[in-house]
Amino acid sequence: MNSCITGLQWGDEGKGKVVDILAEKSDVVVRYAGGANAGHTVVIGGHKFALHLLPSGSVRQDTACVIANGVVIDPDCLIQEIDSLRHRDIGLEGRLFISENAHVVLDYHKQEDQLREQSLGNSKLGTTIRGIGPCYADKIGRSYAVRVGDFKEPEYLRQKLQKIAKFKNNYFKAMYGGDEVDADAIFSKCLIYAERLGDFIVDTTEHLHNAISVGKSVLFEGAQGALLDLDHGTFPYVTSSNASSLGMAAGSGVPAKLVDKYMGVVKSYTTRVGEGPFPTEQDNEIGSEIRERGNEYGTTTGRPRRCGWFDAVAVKYSALIGGIDELAMMHLDTLSGMSELKIAKAYRIDGKETAFFPSNCAKLSRVECVYETLPGWDDDVSCIRTFEQLPANARAYVAKIEELTGCPISIIGVGPGREQTIIR
Ligand code: GDP
Ligand code: IMO
Ligand code: MG
Repeated sequence: MNSCITGLQWGDEGKGKVVDILAEKSDVVVRYAGGANAGHTVVIGGHKFALHLLPSGSVRQDTACVIANGVVIDPDCLIQEIDSLRHRDIGLEGRLFISENAHVVLDYHKQEDQLREQSLGNSKLGTTIRGIGPCYADKIGRSYAVRVGDFKEPEYLRQKLQKIAKFKNNYFKAMYGGDEVDADAIFSKCLIYAERLGDFIVDTTEHLHNAISVGKSVLFEGAQGALLDLDHGTFPYVTSSNASSLGMAAGSGVPAKLVDKYMGVVKSYTTRVGEGPFPTEQDNEIGSEIRERGNEYGTTTGRPRRCGWFDAVAVKYSALIGGIDELAMMHLDTLSGMSELKIAKAYRIDGKETAFFPSNCAKLSRVECVYETLPGWDDDVSCIRTFEQLPANARAYVAKIEELTGCPISIIGVGPGREQTIIR
């Protein structure tokens, strides 16, 4: 049985926790898109792991981990992550497989990300400054891109970096007036990357198809969320990859028809980091209350997350484009103690009501939400492990979200810990 897990909002839905739980019954966990802009948290016995490039299955010693073609890899970050797991007695030797066709994020990508954001001032995107956009742009442009497999061809890589440095220096000088890219210095770093990562580099497409052909179960771990998808999200306030489940096949080389179940992860409210439209945002005391109760600060950048009500219009859209079979809804515990809860069930745009999410930012900026208001509950739910034990108002809230999104909710998060989960 192969499954794909993706976020259905603007990221940080709790994918890491859900993947960790489902990885118990999976042989292989695969990251297929995004890069170190992702921050996936797994909490086991009070110990926290924040993963940026390694799949969340990596904390389970018997799970194989694949970083597939569609991921952009910052080798410094990946090496640091491998070392940090090793310090916690979790080894990756023999079970981590990195695609030779994945693209490499180098220092000049991160410089460019930062310089571009700075120069945009108020119209910045609010990126994570992890070099994601510039690296994917080089991939699409083809002529100045470095792939992981190049680490195994040092002379070819050395010559390629000379060409890239010439181009990047002209570009940086013209656009931002400075910042020398030193080809020799980058090449020296790449030799270290090659030594540290060389044993993990393979053809992951072949590896995955071999695993599937012998009946192994594969879990695909999305990064970001469907509303940050380059083609289907709230462009330009998106990331530079197909973050929805639509990116799974292209990013891994495994066709969509080989996946048996698509699971979407949502929070029981909505958060967003960075700029861009957010119809249910509560830029007020309610939003602050959710932020503090839910500890809504970025796993990757530490930025406070913008918070708001659950948006069923947006999630229904994400579920539709993602072919989602069922939902995991996290952070139900965070809503305990709120007197009333709102869910956006439709939008009013230019006087007309619609239940279909317009991903177009101009339209989204004119949206007025039509809310359904439900009563809250006071009880702490963090120790509850069955749906039936939840307060009646919490059950009604879950049922309303199922009704409005058209998706059954099979997993409910009641705390960050692995065990703080209701499986229905
Ligand atoms: P991801 O990017 O989708 O993996 O999510 P992040 O790890 O960036 O952010 C989710 C945060 O919520 C992390 O700090 C998790 O430990 C935490 N979390 C996950 N599920 C729950 C839950 O059900 N309740 C609470 N209170 N925290 C949760
Ligand atoms: P996970 O996998 C939340 C957001 C950034 C910014 C936009 C573009 O942890 O859910 P980028 O650096 O990708 O060019 O930034 O996308 N963003 C995320 N927001 N969770 C993430 O990942 C994100 N990855 C990127 O904040 O608004
Ligand atoms: Mg995150």
